[in-house]
Amino acid sequence: MSDTRQADVLITGARPYGEGDPVDVLVADGVIAEIGAPGTVEAPESAERIEARGQVLLPGFVDLHTHLREPGREDTETVESGSRAAALGGYTAVFAMANTDPVADNALVTGHVRRRGEEVGLVDVHPVGAVTVGLKGERLAEMGTMAASEAQVRVFSDDGVCVADPLVMRRALEYSTALGVVVAQHAEEPRLTQGAQAHEGERASRLGYAGWPSSAEESIVARDCILARHAGARLHICHVSTTGTVDVLTWAKELGVEVSAEVTPHHLLLTDERLETYDPVNKVNPPLRAERDVDRLRQALADGVLDCVATDHAPHAEQDKCCEWGAARPGMLGLQTALSVVAQTMVRPGLLDWRGVARVMSERPAEIARLPDQGRPLAEGEPANLVLVDPDAEWTVRGAEFASVSENTPFEGMRLPAVVTATLLRGRITAREGKSD
Ligand code: DOR
Repeated sequence: MSDTRQADVLITGARPYGEGDPVDVLVADGVIAEIGAPGTVEAPESAERIEARGQVLLPGFVDLHTHLREPGREDTETVESGSRAAALGGYTAVFAMANTDPVADNALVTGHVRRRGEEVGLVDVHPVGAVTVGLKGERLAEMGTMAASEAQVRVFSDDGVCVADPLVMRRALEYSTALGVVVAQHAEEPRLTQGAQAHEGERASRLGYAGWPSSAEESIVARDCILARHAGARLHICHVSTTGTVDVLTWAKELGVEVSAEVTPHHLLLTDERLETYDPVNKVNPPLRAERDVDRLRQALADGVLDCVATDHAPHAEQDKCCEWGAARPGMLGLQTALSVVAQTMVRPGLLDWRGVARVMSERPAEIARLPDQGRPLAEGEPANLVLVDPDAEWTVRGAEFASVSENTPFEGMRLPAVVTATLLRGRITAREGKSD
């Protein structure tokens, strides 16, 4: 990654993981140089100072699931605008999904995304490689070439569509073991979701939406856990949305399957009650589910059955969202609201403390993607990939104010807790007080 180091930074009065007494933290040469009691850490005159009394210091967040839309749909997001949104949201690394145009199923496209990320320099942008050529689910993409290329692809996914053919998935998992990479599955049995528009249930029936059954997700997760076990492979499940998937993951983990799973902030907060609005800003894949699913997802994230939070940040143009439900594209923005939604759904109800937030938003995703320099402990000598959070502040979501090119947030107008006040990437301040560098 590019060299983004800069002048020393002295952070004063923050509480690491929101625990214990406040400390001062000196950041120099891209690492945490010293941590000490307030007033005891000496910094050069030239050092930038961040007064952080009452704030929580955490390792920078890592998003395993971001759509940056470059190349192809720069009218909705670019590597630059998405990087800004990520830095403002407290992220120091994001994984850019492969469903671009052209698809990131080769070393040229993944190399371009990686290079653009480095040029922008606000967050480490790791390109995700497609599992199959053109996301068509038929022929495996050149996974080995992408893994060995300058882009160093470590996560492969056809996200947006499912790798539905069991033989193709089996081969992808087998290759992944040899390459030391992980396949992230968008779990959706396409035969069960043909024409589907919304979570299958009483509400969809009453309102006239074609139903999207939970079993479409659960059947693929069960199948792929069995395939991963057979291949001796690691498997990652994207955007888990149902109670039944939590049951399957519990069973698979007890069996010793090396499966990890993510949940999105929107599936932790919103339900299919939103269907009553008929507003396509609420259309997403997988769909918003029932209240009992939301409750179970929160509990599973607290328990560790779900490993991490990933945004599925999915920018869309106004014409693709401000239209009839059936014609609208699925997806919602997430990078600048993720921390606050996690604070609202997990921290406020006492399901996670701030150390737990560090686990699900930084440490576990970094482990899953095997990033050596992210999700590290807050300790001297560690890389200064950091985020400062004001846990007591509240703010009102305004999509038009986001750094993203698009504005499709389902949280518009909501008042949410916790504000990212600063983000540091290898010691360089990439966002501060709501402004990116
Ligand atoms: O809602 C979604 N939008 N889910 C996906 O899996 C893909 C994403 C997109 O690319 O817009």
